[in-house]
Amino acid sequence: MAKARAEKRIKQLRDEIRRHDYLYYVLNKPKISDAKYDKLMEELKTLEEKYPNFVTTDSPTQRVGAAPLEEFETVRHTKPMLSLDTALEEEDIQRFDERLKRELALELIEYIAEPKLDGLSVELIYEKGHFKIGSTRGDGINGEDVTENIKTIRAVPLLLRSSDLSIPEMVAIRGEVFMNINDFEEFNKQLIQQDEQPLANPRNAAAGSLRRLNPRETAQRPLDIFFYEIMDIKGMEVETQWDSLQYLKKWGLKTNTMVEKYSGSDDVIKYHQKMLKKRDTLEYEIDGVVIKLNNIELQEKLGVKARSPRWAIAYKFPSRVEKTRVMDIMAQVGRTGALTPVALLKPVDVGGVTVSRATLHNQDFIDEMDVRIGDVVRVGRAGDVIPEVNEVIKSARTGKEKKYRLPITCPICGSKVVEVGAFKRCTGGLSCVAQLKRSIGHFASKGAMDIEHLGRKNVDLFVDHGLLKSVGDVYQLKKDNLQALPRFAEKSAENLVDAIEKSKERSLARFIYALGIPNVGEHIARVLADKFKSLENLIAASEEELLSIYEIGPEIADSVTSFFKEKRNVKEIEKMRKLGVKAVVTKEKKEKPGVLKGKSFVFTGGLKDFTRGEAKRIVEELGGRATSTVNDSTDYVVIGDKPGSKYEKAKKLGLTILSEDEFKKVVGKKVMKYDRM
Ligand code: IVH
Repeated sequence: MAKARAEKRIKQLRDEIRRHDYLYYVLNKPKISDAKYDKLMEELKTLEEKYPNFVTTDSPTQRVGAAPLEEFETVRHTKPMLSLDTALEEEDIQRFDERLKRELALELIEYIAEPKLDGLSVELIYEKGHFKIGSTRGDGINGEDVTENIKTIRAVPLLLRSSDLSIPEMVAIRGEVFMNINDFEEFNKQLIQQDEQPLANPRNAAAGSLRRLNPRETAQRPLDIFFYEIMDIKGMEVETQWDSLQYLKKWGLKTNTMVEKYSGSDDVIKYHQKMLKKRDTLEYEIDGVVIKLNNIELQEKLGVKARSPRWAIAYKFPSRVEKTRVMDIMAQVGRTGALTPVALLKPVDVGGVTVSRATLHNQDFIDEMDVRIGDVVRVGRAGDVIPEVNEVIKSARTGKEKKYRLPITCPICGSKVVEVGAFKRCTGGLSCVAQLKRSIGHFASKGAMDIEHLGRKNVDLFVDHGLLKSVGDVYQLKKDNLQALPRFAEKSAENLVDAIEKSKERSLARFIYALGIPNVGEHIARVLADKFKSLENLIAASEEELLSIYEIGPEIADSVTSFFKEKRNVKEIEKMRKLGVKAVVTKEKKEKPGVLKGKSFVFTGGLKDFTRGEAKRIVEELGGRATSTVNDSTDYVVIGDKPGSKYEKAKKLGLTILSEDEFKKVVGKKVMKYDRM
């Protein structure tokens, strides 16, 4: 009896969870809190553990968990996955339209216009509504079987929704996997914190994430998907591209909301202009629009060329890549001593932003591209990412260009430079002024000890005047020493000393993060603080103890133990403790009075005075919540420059909308703390 009840409850829970997944991930309209959702999931997991016979492959619990693979299997696509011819000018579209009219003997053609998503194409096969196989495009004929990885994408239903529209025997669907720009930036930040090379753009991040051999790793990456084509279907007929999209929607598959139906090429051209304006306000990258003949019978009549259909065309946006000259190359020394070559460019406008520097990553990158000083190059930028040199125009060479090699001694401190993997690293440690400055800067930064007024400029000033020779010296700064410096008055000196004093109360997690141990970002620092509870315990932790923690692998374990093996690091910590730094376990959020307790905020558009991360942190520190989706329960929507669709939604729902200045007022004086330095 209990068993029968359990079976019924399991079914109920699955339906309920699927419904919330659909509301949250596909429609972007969550109806319940995360906590309630987690509770449902927990209940389902517990029941399935107790009654493993009832576990099915399409249960919401089965998204993650498949074992890592040695390599991907190859799967043949149901039909070739074609690519598209491209158009850049209005005339190209007019010519395309003329050709279609001529070949189909029609006066007016009906088109579907869709955003062209900058991600990677996949084919998904559903049999009787169950998700069976997912594959990458590969060479168009055969792709890689990434089924388990695709299952981790929450917007992909494991079971199609049944509605008034029946579920086909089999349907093969094409979609585009991508990463949202915000998620990508967050992800890159983590990579940088872990001393890893950031990725060039969201597209590469999505591609790399989808092709992990370990599905658990893919599950950690915030991937999303839009579906746009029925490649093959059994047991149903589809007449138009428009209908295809309606069917996909009904089956619970996420489709883009900005798809339009037009007659003739004029409106298609207008659509392109409209989307180009919208481009920078979207949460994901698009690189153009796709124009498709709507009628599928007519599509078949026109047929395909070698690799692209004759009935569709990609109408691309002007690129965010521009030509300019490399005036010089220099080596920048980072916090951990890594030398990054940076190209100093003749300033150029790239998609509305003036670019005068671009990263060259490392020596291998320079060698492979063969970038030389004096070269004409193409620099590109994707979203808000650091500009990068994409291409060297070798035909523009005059013979006067000079090759560049990273120096063998540090350009800042003269210490020896050693090679660590693809990177060169200065061995000067904190005796290298560049590393010292960046380490102190990191120590005082917002996510770390959060010392107001100790930004880059002041750190440089204090180090240059010999007031700071180590990180711990921060706690020996005296008002008198500061006042002796140029531009420092009594009040500013006092403010800084007060801020330093306040930082002594910061939590253990923040302190661990502030130490700047390689591979230990904010999240791992929190994990370590939760586990070890005190600095003494952490310093004494063995590699085995560290490895026994779920989220800690050999690389982090090694980083942590090596850091504390260095006597001077431990000494520095002891010094700071003697000077009053507490670094104890506290629940940060509870410390604060929480004037925004229970209030939720959504930000949209660019803010002038804060980064998104800063704005979110302010809200959280005051007890509020910052989320990314606007719904009925959102209390405030803060709009910056070029607000996106969230703004429209907020207006529709009649929510309280705040400008950046109004937001500052709501969060009160606290804001001063985050003034940019
Ligand atoms: S249709 C036969 N629609 O663009 C159908 N493709 O340059 C061919 N893409 O490989 C594809 N958004 O990865 C289509 N709305 C969209 C798209 C789209 C992005 C990608 C797709 C394709 C590439 C062609």
